[in-house]
Amino acid sequence: MSAIEYNIDTGATDREAPKVGDVDNLRPLPRISVHAFCISDAMHRLMEKCAVDRRMAKVTMRITSGNIDAAANMFATSPTPNLIILETEAEPSALLPELAPLAEVCDPSTRVIIIGRYNDISLYRELMRNGISEYMVSPVAMADVLGAISAIFVDPEAEPLGRTIAFIGAKGGVGSSTIAHNCAFSVSSLFATETILADLDLPYGTANIDFDQDPAQGMAEAVFSPDRLDEVFLDRLLTTCSQNLSLLAAPSLLDRSYDFDGGAFQPIMELLQRSAPVTVLDVPHLWSDWTRRVLADADEVVITCMPDLANLRNAKNMLDALKKLRPNDKAPHFILNQVGVPKRPEISPGDFFEPLEVEPVAIIPFDGQLFGNAANSGRMIAETDAKSPTAETFSQLAHLVTGRATVKKAKKSGLGSVLGLLGRK
Ligand SMILES: Nc1ncnc2c1ncn2[C@@H]1O[C@H](COP(=O)(O)OP(=O)(O)OP(=O)(O)O)[C@@H](O)[C@H]1O
Ligand SMILES: [Mg+2]
Repeated sequence: MSAIEYNIDTGATDREAPKVGDVDNLRPLPRISVHAFCISDAMHRLMEKCAVDRRMAKVTMRITSGNIDAAANMFATSPTPNLIILETEAEPSALLPELAPLAEVCDPSTRVIIIGRYNDISLYRELMRNGISEYMVSPVAMADVLGAISAIFVDPEAEPLGRTIAFIGAKGGVGSSTIAHNCAFSVSSLFATETILADLDLPYGTANIDFDQDPAQGMAEAVFSPDRLDEVFLDRLLTTCSQNLSLLAAPSLLDRSYDFDGGAFQPIMELLQRSAPVTVLDVPHLWSDWTRRVLADADEVVITCMPDLANLRNAKNMLDALKKLRPNDKAPHFILNQVGVPKRPEISPGDFFEPLEVEPVAIIPFDGQLFGNAANSGRMIAETDAKSPTAETFSQLAHLVTGRATVKKAKKSGLGSVLGLLGRK
């Protein structure tokens, strides 16, 4: 038990008055994952109190009794969350070396808050220089912790939380939606990252069928009522598919026509970016003002093709058009799907990609039984046959589109730069 005594009623320690007003002004936190490592009982209880605060309702929070070493051990074998909170008693000179093993296994996108014992400005500066998001000195109150998390993930000046990945087919029916849904599922399950799958194919979308859901209007309400869009409204439109995966489903009804202005999807895309770390957009095979805007604004674009001439021509045109739309971004990723349909003449992967001057990120064989079974039972490939090479392909794609290395290693950003400072690699 630490010397700090925690006051359950006020949420403060006995050394500092609570900043209740500050909590009142905070906005709800988005769908992030947080893992706190506490060494004192007081900190453990403080984190528990944070976890049940209404502003944390969408946050997945884990609390572990343990020090920085315990965190490094745990994340050596499991993915790091969006935020790690570390309580430490380490002296200023010992803190950076203590962080080094954790830095080696920490994803560069993971943010870190440290709650230490020493009020030392040079330590603070050194930690900030090395990718730590916040250093707070004990005792801290609930308002301090929630305020620090908000400053990272809610502050309008802060970088947008979410990464948006748009999937589109070079032709109709190539399997773009199936791949988008499987990737969204893999991202959410492999990295325990809150993921939203948004189905932009309003008349015909299949995400609802693929996840065996029967949701209400979802995406239709989002695009036709942009004035009502906020976090609370979005929550009502989302359907839970699995632990970390929510679906903004298409109505898949033909009771109206679906014509959109160029910017129709901008408000919902911005809200999604502020709401979850990863959004997967299932974009229908169309080339209109609104699809061009969606593709221009996404962080990553994935184009799925089948190995025939029409796909090749369209892929080339899409590649050229996207280069103009996204002059400062890397080229879209290409997937060749449904390769090896019996008796069907095909363009070989080599001949397909040679004129495009790109390498495919995946070549997925045609497997009628595997895909058919998954589609008919409302399950993903990883759930239908986890050991199949196709399930492994979706796992690799999940790493790729979220910018995670397949092999865990620290990069020279975020906490990883601690290693550089210590001269270790
Ligand atoms: N590698 C594959 N092997 C066998 N079947 C596949 C494969 N990939 C996708 N499919 C099947 O192809 C069909 C079309 O897939 P999907 O709806 O994902 O395509 P799409 O490109 O999104 O089509 P649309 O243009 O209608 O949006 C589905 O029945 C799906 O199960
Ligand atoms: Mg589709």
